[in-house]
Amino acid sequence: MLLLRTDPLAPDRDVIRVAVDALRRDGIVAAPTETVYGLFTHAQSDEGCAKVFKAKGRPPDNPLIVHVNSVEMAETVGYIPDELVDVLRRVWPGPITVVVRSRGVVSRCVTAGLDTVAVRAPAHPIPLAIIRELEAPIAGPSANKAGRPSPTTAAHVVEDLDGEVDVIIDGGPTFLGVESTIIDVTKKPPVLLRPGPFTVEELEKYFGHIEVPPVARGLAEADVALAPGMKYRHYAPSTPLIIIHFDLKEAAKDLKTRGVRVAVLCAMGRCADADAVIQMGADLYEVAKNLYKSLRDLDRLGVDVGLVPAIEEMGLGLAVMNRLRKAAGHREARNIQDLLRALPNKQ
Ligand code: TXA
Ligand code: MG
Repeated sequence: MLLLRTDPLAPDRDVIRVAVDALRRDGIVAAPTETVYGLFTHAQSDEGCAKVFKAKGRPPDNPLIVHVNSVEMAETVGYIPDELVDVLRRVWPGPITVVVRSRGVVSRCVTAGLDTVAVRAPAHPIPLAIIRELEAPIAGPSANKAGRPSPTTAAHVVEDLDGEVDVIIDGGPTFLGVESTIIDVTKKPPVLLRPGPFTVEELEKYFGHIEVPPVARGLAEADVALAPGMKYRHYAPSTPLIIIHFDLKEAAKDLKTRGVRVAVLCAMGRCADADAVIQMGADLYEVAKNLYKSLRDLDRLGVDVGLVPAIEEMGLGLAVMNRLRKAAGHREARNIQDLLRALPNKQ
């Protein structure tokens, strides 16, 4: 396994060539995008794709995102509706993935046999340089083990996938910290499958009205998954996490008097005294950027429970709450009684 460091804004050509050589030989490469690190294969390589699923421990029915560097390249992979060609030219490169009908040219392993394909152009010089040099799309999920928080640094990738990847490119921390927004544009109006950094409010200026089903807020597990990935549990720290909809200080204090060891994940000025404190950030952008690192850190503290304040579900807050709900396994408390019910039963 090669670990290569490069400047994210001016990637070293030799580093890009090493990655592209590995991809041409059906190898797998971890590299940053603007959202989280991805684990990439040549999109047409059955063998490379199989390696991605194996390294990640991902169920085979959960398809990968195909990453391109232009709308033209996207059109070689899927059928882009005419009215969306100009829209995609304006929003790409960027953290927005569209699900379209597939042309069936990428590996069936990548699309998990579906007749649709998820495509995006990442706004990060490293994957864009790889795609340009390879002259082909690359497919990949987030570079974490299935069920772990997504990686926002190369160290997180090493933590999860050491020895299982051919090349890891360390391009420093990612810029945004939560995965791309996904919308299904085969539906009219388009349906939000996963909230992300490109907010629904902003996207509606380009795509018109977008439907937001409860599953996209992380409120329900889809019985029939809208995005195949939705039926799997995600981002779960092993320390129980509870979302607090009332006074965080009151919650932390009450648990303390009961002898429960508590870590508080502070966000946007909401914090409390506790056995351990993790600072997520003063504004939504910092909170999004530090979210997955904070969840990884929580498990290192050896506390009984983590508390995190509820975030208003507007703008980027929708993406943050979706991840927090999944990490919390739907433990949410509106008052002390709820909080006691949500505690892991061990006292
Ligand atoms: O920001 C991101 O999107 C990152 C970076 C690496 O690009 N990628 C990422 O990939 O988050 P992953 O595999 O962790 O999440 C992709 C999601 C999964 O929930 C999957 O089920 C969904 O996209 N997906 C892929 N193809 C789909 C399709 N044809 N229809 C519906 N959902 C699809
Ligand atoms: Mg993922």
